[in-house]
Amino acid sequence: MILTSVELAYLAATVLFILSLHWMSGPTTARRGVSAGVTAMVIAVVATYAKPEVSQGADMTRFLWVIIPIALAIWPGIWLSLIPLTAVPQRTALSHAFGGLAAGLVGTAEYFHWLSSAPEALTTFRMAAIVTEIILGYLTFTGSLIAAAKLQEVKWIPQRPWVYRGQRVVNLLAFATAVSLGVALVVSPSAAWSPWAFGAIIVLALNFGWMLVMPIGGADMPTVIAILNAYAGLAAVAMGFVLDNRLLITAGALDGSSGLILSIIMCRAMNRSFTNVLFGAFGSVQQQADGGEQQVYRPDTTESAAQLMEQAGFVVIVPGYGMAVAQAQHKVRELYDQLHQRGIRVKFAIHPVAGRMPGHMNVLLAEAEIPYDDLVELDEINSEMPQCDVCLVVGANDVVNPAARTDRSSPIFGMPIIDADKARAVYAVKRSKRPGFAGIDNQLYFLDKTWMLFGDAKAVVGEVVKHLTPSSTH
Ligand code: TAP
Repeated sequence: MILTSVELAYLAATVLFILSLHWMSGPTTARRGVSAGVTAMVIAVVATYAKPEVSQGADMTRFLWVIIPIALAIWPGIWLSLIPLTAVPQRTALSHAFGGLAAGLVGTAEYFHWLSSAPEALTTFRMAAIVTEIILGYLTFTGSLIAAAKLQEVKWIPQRPWVYRGQRVVNLLAFATAVSLGVALVVSPSAAWSPWAFGAIIVLALNFGWMLVMPIGGADMPTVIAILNAYAGLAAVAMGFVLDNRLLITAGALDGSSGLILSIIMCRAMNRSFTNVLFGAFGSVQQQADGGEQQVYRPDTTESAAQLMEQAGFVVIVPGYGMAVAQAQHKVRELYDQLHQRGIRVKFAIHPVAGRMPGHMNVLLAEAEIPYDDLVELDEINSEMPQCDVCLVVGANDVVNPAARTDRSSPIFGMPIIDADKARAVYAVKRSKRPGFAGIDNQLYFLDKTWMLFGDAKAVVGEVVKHLTPSSTH
């Protein structure tokens, strides 16, 4: 069998897509992974345009129809790439929305194209692929837009789960009706009523997408994004079958399966099931302190914090979302260096869902060139926490909340946490008394051994560094 140049290009792109995912899983090879992915995508686009059925007989007008949209789309792409690291989850959601919309539009165009030119081409298999593509594509579009808006904390979209009586039945009915109409279309793709049924499926899928995401909120949003990633990938697989394009099938399958694996990893890290994420209305409960008694925070000075840390033998730093917001990683690095120079053992406790995206803390700490060996994962660091003299919590909240271990009524009950409360002393850096992402109070902050350092993480950690005694033995 002799491969054509297009097939060879597709093979090269497939290999590069797989290598790209492989390389992106490690911090030292991540950049190479991104370059491999970009190269694969360029090869895929050029090779598809070079396919005889696409390029044969193509005149200037057809060429411009391809080039102009690409040239225009580059600009929003560049703008999206310039957003701060803290906004990456919502940016990712927007990308999935566009991917879903593209799949939906291609499916719609293909259906009406074949219906008017060659209805016999709408075979059972192709029709089933088109129906799958439009249902998944359009629901991913509206679902991802709502997810992005919630993460961006857009005012007119409630951040907390939006629930009402009978919601699940309504959602299920909308989905079941779309699927039933889809089955009817597969059986009779070109009946007089078929275009109407097709339109009804689009409307139902668009509605189902936002209805699916509105009842989800709080800390579950990033997981939902990974699930929507899986839907967008599956929509691309269906599109690959519709267009008979093998590269699209492979790339979609890679995209879909990585989204699914990611959502499973996140669910495990939060000790939650898939159904719990999709139907659990997590984050809807706003807890109050027991007995109505006002619990008291004990603020302290950065000077005292510096003194205590200097006397410690073992310091554990727990970074969280607040460190990302404050961009405090470089100040944290300075603190790490200073303590290290004084012969103090310093480790970073990395929670798998600290921040707002997988690997968020690892990326920030790697950017500040903190040695990877000192980044310790949850299970390993927890076994050492009773020996820790000072635990410095930098903008973390839910991931150190002991309610996850002890309070059955807490929405985060069961989520593995970093046992900061087992350290001999705790310093917690945050700006206010506001709760973390899950919207609940944190008993860690009220313990006798905990002192609060209120303020922006970058400024506070910088102050601690300044107060370390210069004369200490280096
Ligand atoms: P959070 O619970 O969101 O707490 C962050 C804390 O940082 C807040 O208490 C906030 O308090 C403080 N903060 C914000 N800006 C700050 C600044 N400039 N300086 C100092 N402090 C600042 O963060 P976490 O502990 O990292 O937990 C992550 C949450 O996201 C978890 O609920 C997790 O389940 C969820 N989640 C994450 C992921 C991934 S993949 N990372 C996926 C799904 C869910 P103030 O406002 O008072 O400053």
